[in-house]
Amino acid sequence: MSLFAKKSLSAMLAQANTGESGLKRTLGAGNLVALGIGAIIGAGLFVRTAAAAGQAAGPAVTISFIIAAIGCAFAGLCYAEFAAMIPISGSAYAYSYVTMGEIVAWIIGWALVMEYALGAATVSIAWSEYLNKLLGGAIPYEWCHSPFESFTDSSGVLHQGILNAPALIVLLLVTLLLIKGTSESALVNAIIVFIKVAIVLMFIFIGWQFINPANHTPYMIPEGTPPVTDSAGKVIADYSGVFKHGWGGVLGGAAIVFFAFIGFDAVSTAAQEAKNPKRDMPIGILGSLVVCTILYILFGHVLTGVANWKEFVDPEKGREASVAYAISTYMTGYGWLATAVTVAILAGFTSVILVMLMGQSRIFYSMSNDGLIPKVFGDLHPKFKTPYKANWILFIFVGLFAAFVPGHVAGDLTSFGTLFAFVLVSIGVWVLRVKSPEIERPFRTPLAPVVSVLGAVICLAMIFALDKQTLIVAFGWMAIGLVVYFAYSKNKSKLRQQ
Ligand code: ALA
Repeated sequence: MSLFAKKSLSAMLAQANTGESGLKRTLGAGNLVALGIGAIIGAGLFVRTAAAAGQAAGPAVTISFIIAAIGCAFAGLCYAEFAAMIPISGSAYAYSYVTMGEIVAWIIGWALVMEYALGAATVSIAWSEYLNKLLGGAIPYEWCHSPFESFTDSSGVLHQGILNAPALIVLLLVTLLLIKGTSESALVNAIIVFIKVAIVLMFIFIGWQFINPANHTPYMIPEGTPPVTDSAGKVIADYSGVFKHGWGGVLGGAAIVFFAFIGFDAVSTAAQEAKNPKRDMPIGILGSLVVCTILYILFGHVLTGVANWKEFVDPEKGREASVAYAISTYMTGYGWLATAVTVAILAGFTSVILVMLMGQSRIFYSMSNDGLIPKVFGDLHPKFKTPYKANWILFIFVGLFAAFVPGHVAGDLTSFGTLFAFVLVSIGVWVLRVKSPEIERPFRTPLAPVVSVLGAVICLAMIFALDKQTLIVAFGWMAIGLVVYFAYSKNKSKLRQQ
């Protein structure tokens, strides 16, 4: 049988309705939009907005958000078509199995581990940092850093990381919640989403009164802006490059804030748990994308209006904890909002971890049902009907990563995995339109070939804009995946055994 053997769509749809033994259909449209917002608003908004403004786009980071959102919208429309047509938990992996065959599906399933598992690990490490910030640095350095990190304090004492305990704890709590049930997880997610959106809205409304129009002029970083240096004269931001000023800088900013949109596709991994996927999947995917885009633009407008973009590269000003800096420096009388923002960040990170871990376990569930990974990943809890063994294995894998690996290693790999999936989903929609035009499509991507091609091209361009190191590690990971496929999965594949 060819490596490109495809699953039949009817088999796929039958699998989506496995009755008694299947995942429970408990999620409505509101839950799905909340799930999307839960996965989307996190470090991207709270950390990368200021970084993009300070390093490349200036106040025009608002336009960067619009550009990144357009790129995501192309992929989002394609996801919506697939998720409504094939409401199955495997997301891009499952769609590729029908359209481009087993080997492509395997590759994408393997790449999605980078998006979801490494994404969850990265965010849990960031969670640990912010928790420590909120507690005023009460957690000893040794117990909130990996063994590969060290730091010498002002009295010359060397602190060596042992393990990142808070990251492990948040992962454990989220894993327990996920095992307990999808609707319970969705409820906790909805509460968190309410808190973080409320605080984002508060910042927008209160901050609006503190906007200084001078900070918005000029709107883009002008050509010839001199580099910014630190007190020792070291250059910390250079605006001479093409993607560092003017419209080029706005594009550079879009690449930086792309991370803020990662997560809307996670909605599609819950398709098998949606009550009415045909109607609600497109609402969940596109709805969460629209809500977040609007919030992001307003947030960027206020942040760059309250503080000047140049302050966001200055280590002595707003380079770190930029939002809290802007509030405490310029929004007199609203010190409490700076603390509230840190709480929103922690809440935001928690829901990102929750949805990422949920998405990964659902993809494993699908791959296991197809025989490509061991059966244990597909076992459902007798009472809770959740893939609890997959959740535990994932906890160990992600936990090892979070406890012992430095945080900066995984962020760009998360973008790689996501973009890779976007490319294949965008192409897949068109392939299936040509090959199986007769299938009922409750949601149709408008101008399908144009949207597909643009989606694929934009995402490919963003992949190649990632740094070389990331690409090498990512392709190394994919090579390991191929070894696993030929050594194990190919022989165990249920499709081949039929
Ligand atoms: N979009 C998610 C975040 O910004 C991954 O944290």
